Order: sequence, then C-alpha cells, then structure tokens
Amino acid sequence: MGIRIKGTGRCIPERILTNADLEKMVDTSDEWITSRTGIKERHLAAPGETTSDMAAAAAKQALELAGMTADMLDLIIVSTVTPDMMFPNTATIVQKKIGAKPCVCFDIEAACSGLLYGLNTAYGMMASPLKYQRALIIGAEKLSAITDWSDRSTCVLFGDAAAAVILENDNDPSTPDFYADGFVCADGNLGDVLLMPAGGSVLPASHETVENHQHFIKMGGPKTFQLAVHSMVDACRILLEREAVPREKIRWVIPHQANWRIISAVASRLGMEEKVYQNVERYGNTSSASIGICLDELNRSGQLQSGDCVLAVSFGAGLTWSALLIRW
Ligand code: UT7
Repeated sequence: MGIRIKGTGRCIPERILTNADLEKMVDTSDEWITSRTGIKERHLAAPGETTSDMAAAAAKQALELAGMTADMLDLIIVSTVTPDMMFPNTATIVQKKIGAKPCVCFDIEAACSGLLYGLNTAYGMMASPLKYQRALIIGAEKLSAITDWSDRSTCVLFGDAAAAVILENDNDPSTPDFYADGFVCADGNLGDVLLMPAGGSVLPASHETVENHQHFIKMGGPKTFQLAVHSMVDACRILLEREAVPREKIRWVIPHQANWRIISAVASRLGMEEKVYQNVERYGNTSSASIGICLDELNRSGQLQSGDCVLAVSFGAGLTWSALLIRW
C-alpha cells in the first residue's frame, strides 16, 4: 500500500524547571527525584503558550521535513489530556493555526498512550476504503496546567511538550507500510489509579473542586508503576511473538518516558537494554508527546535508517496501553 512516515517534529518550550528549582517549591531533593525517576529537568510552557501552540509548532516542523504544506493534509488527530478547552477539539484549533484546508479533525484522549493510539487509528483510516492520503498525528500536552505544584509526589514528574508525525500513502503497492503490527488495549477497571477528578460533567468546576485541588493529576504512584511495567512488557511480547521478530532485528525500543526505573525494568524483562532510547532526564513525563519526541530526536540525528525496525510502547491513564512495530 505504501503508507510511510514522511516527517516528524517536536516543540519543546523554552523554560526549564530543574530539580534544584523544585527543591525550593516542595519538600524534595535532586537526589530523591534522580534516584526514583531519572528526571533532572523538565520544560514548561510560557503562561500564554497553549497546547495547540505547541502542537502547531511541532506540526510545522514535521510538514517541513516531509516536504508538504498543510493544505495537503486530509486527516488531523491530536492526542491530549490538556486540550485548549473542552470543545472545540484541539485538532480543529491546530488545523486553523497551521492553515490546513477543511478535513477530518478529532482528538484522542488515551493519556500517555495517545500517540500510539493515534498512529494505529490513522493507519486504519488510511488503509481502509476511506483512503485518507496524508495524516498529521500529534501528541501535545500542557501538563503544567493540571499539575498540583504543592504535591511533591506528582509535581516532580511532568513536563510540557508536543511532537508530530506525518503519514503519507504513496499508493505504491511495492512500498512496505511503516506499520508492521500494532497492539492497542485499555482496562477501565483500573482507571482510578491515575485521573483528574474534576472539570468534567461528574464534578463541574466549583469553588469546592478548586479548594480541594480536584483539577489536578491524582496518581497512585507505586500501583501505576507496577501496572506500567507489566502491561508494556506484555504488549511488546505480543507483537514480537505475533510477528516472529527476533530481538536482534529491532534497532530501537522506544518506551513511554515516564520514569527511568520503569523504562529499565521493561528493557531488562525484554532482554533489550542496549536498544532502549531514553531522554526522560531532560523532559520528564510529557505524556502523549514523549514517544514522538524520541522518534523526532532519532530521526533528526540520523540514527534511523530506512528499513530499521522500531518497537514503541506506552502506558497511561485509563488505563490504556499500546505497542507499535514500525518499519522506518
Ligand atoms: O505516564 C504514566 C503514568 N505515571 C507513571 O508511570 C508513574 C509511575 N510511578 C512512579 O514513577 C513512582 O511510583 C514514583 C516516582 C511516582 C514514586 O516512586 P516510588 O519509589 O514508588 O515512591 P513512593 O510513592 O512509594 O514513595 C516513597 C516515599 C514516600 O515516603 P514514606 O511514606 O516512605 O515516608 C513518599 O512520601 O517517598 C516520598 N516521596 C518523596 N520524597 C521526596 C514521594 N514523592 C517525593 C518527592 N521527594 N518528590
């Protein structure tokens, strides 16, 4: 069919918040944050900088690399848990900001698994009789807007950023698709380990919800940790076994960048430590942007060659998890 990754891009906000900065805000230490998470610093959006601003900046970079203009897109998907507003969806706001023509635009809310959910969905739409030709898939998060800066158990973890991927169908049956195989799953029974309780229709914003800090991320850290390792390993094994891919064929494993300890536990259980790409120390957990940032860093630094096999895997609120075997 010939559905290929044609471009990648990222937007990392300028402002850096270091562990030393956090030591002045809550009762924590660089030693604790580094040893428990591997994170050294994270980037935060400027006050007026929105999720869609970062998404549009990442999209423009990806379009440039793909040698395309925005009016060539016929599908735009944005994954985010921090949309600009409840509606309209952030994809339509990005569409306007990048100057795309009228086309299909929607958001995916699958938390940290969102970019992989988006790539799986876009591929399905492009490969189906719907025949979408050029898709923009973005993971974008302004997590600083929903971070409780007085809660040391969560505020040290997250950062803001966006990343984008452009897919194009060249309609050449001899070109192998980027999509070798994918696995997507969720289990709502485990949803209350990681959530933002208020702001939806169950608890609309009120003085009480604001006073109770219910518009912020709430997470059972250790439980999330365990589930993350288990589900990411499982998802990778399913794809590796289903496609009969020997470990040595994989060039890169790109796990969601939540915590260095989670990444290394997943890598060691898969026996693929030396193939793991990680940058969590520089950005913290940027949710749905994290895998896209890794892909873009690898792509722009020439560390991905045509034909390379990349295994991306993620885990997030929902609970959701997903893996994608990519032919570069
Ligand atoms: O993107 C997907 C979603 N998120 C994740 O994948 C995150 C998954 N979870 C984690 O990464 C880890 O559970 C954390 C990094 C959040 C926490 O690490 P942990 O080793 O599981 O620590 P803990 O929650 O069991 O806390 C250990 C201790 C506690 O003190 P006591 O009760 O033992 O006295 C906490 O109060 O560390 C304390 N603590 C801190 N101390 C200094 C918690 N946060 C901090 C902090 N600084 N920032």
